[in-house]
Parts: sequence; structure tokens; C-alpha cells
Amino acid sequence: MARFIITAGPTREHLDPVRFLSNRSSGKMGFALAEAAAAAGAATTLVAGPVALPTPAGVERVDVVSAREMLAALERRVAQADVLIMCAAVADFRPRRMAAGKLKKGAMERMLELVPNPDILKRLAPAKGGRIFVGFAAETGDPTAEGRRKLEEKGLDLIVANDVSRDDAGFAVDTNRAILIAADGELVELPLMSKRELGARVVEWCLRRLELDAV
Ligand code: CTP
Repeated sequence: MARFIITAGPTREHLDPVRFLSNRSSGKMGFALAEAAAAAGAATTLVAGPVALPTPAGVERVDVVSAREMLAALERRVAQADVLIMCAAVADFRPRRMAAGKLKKGAMERMLELVPNPDILKRLAPAKGGRIFVGFAAETGDPTAEGRRKLEEKGLDLIVANDVSRDDAGFAVDTNRAILIAADGELVELPLMSKRELGARVVEWCLRRLELDAV
């Protein structure tokens, strides 16, 4: 049985107990992937940032808040997976410190010093071995060029690139229009489809690749 780990949603980087930096990710695409993987019979773990979505049937869910928590959850689990799909919209920066209590107006500016978060895919690269690593690239420019660059930079097998400046693709909608770019040069431009359908296509790609790797 194939084993998938899928990440979903945004991460939240807290400034104090009530304020955070985050992004518009709803988690829909990652949850659709987990649903598709479980439906295909894979043992599926979903590592989710803060989202308001029900856990798909047959999926083990691990909730995290920050990028560093997501990295730690994956470091503990990646060795047991055949496929990692990083669909989460990880915050690239976090406040240097988190205040223990709610910040007063005057203190806020001083606390807004940002430091970079770890790049989770790059940090997990040494553990990749024969595993399949899939990334997502949400772009407002040229998704193919940017997707290729990230595929190479992060040492991935596949990247799912999409143009999030369109109303029908990307953040918080039920549809997506994506280009699948594989490390071997394969490029598939998919038409507009539901996130559920796109999830099934990406899972199918991974399962086919696992089969090919096994022979
Ligand atoms: N990603 C990651 N760790 C991060 C940021 C992103 O693992 N700190 C993963 C995402 O989950 C996604 C892929 O890297 O699968 C591409 O994410 P994206 O935000 O598009 O890329 P960045 O590396 O942040 O590049 P840029 O900010 O230049 O667009």
C-alpha cells in the first residue's frame, strides 16, 4: 500500500497570542489531494495548518500552526512515506520573537522584525532518497518558468504550477487550472477543473510513478 503525506493550508506566524502573519490559503487543494489519495487506497497523513475544513474519510490528520511546527511534524514522518506532496502555503517569514501577552500599540512596531522561516522542502531534501516529492507553485507571473525554477531548486519530481491572479484558480475557490511539470521534462497543461479532480490527477501521477519506479 502506498503511503502519502500531504500538507495543506497556510501557516500562521504569531506575533503575540492574538495576532499573526499568514496568507489566503483555504486548505481546499491539500484536502482534495488527501481525499483522492485515501480514495485510491493509499495510507494518507494530512499535515494541516489552521483551516476550517472537515477531515476526509480514512485520512490521519495532524494539525500544526507555524512553519517550524510543520517542518517538525514532517521530519518525524517523512521516512515512513513513499510520497510527500507539499501543498501548504508556508509563510516565508516569521516575527523574530513572539510576545507572551497581547502587545500594546506602541510595542507592535518594535516586534515586527522578521526572520526567514526554513524552506521545508529544502530541509527535507536529505531524507528524500527514492521518495517522490511534489511541490506546488502559486504564481502571479509566468507559472511554467517559475514552476521549472522551483522544481530544480528544490529537487522535486513534480511541481503543480498555477496562476493565482485568475479568479477561477488558486486561493479559496473550488476550481484550479494547473500545469504539471515533471523533472524528466514532461509537461501537462490541464484545463480548468475542480480541485477534487486536480487532486485525483496529481495522486494518479504519483501512483504511476511509484509503479514505474518499482519495475
Ligand atoms: N515551501 C516550503 N517551505 C517554505 C516555502 C515554500 O516547503 N518555507 C514549498 C511550498 O509548500 C511549495 C513550494 O515550496 O510546495 C513552492 O512554494 P512557493 O511559496 O511558491 O515558493 P517559495 O520557495 O516561497 O518561492 P518564492 O517566494 O520565490 O515564490
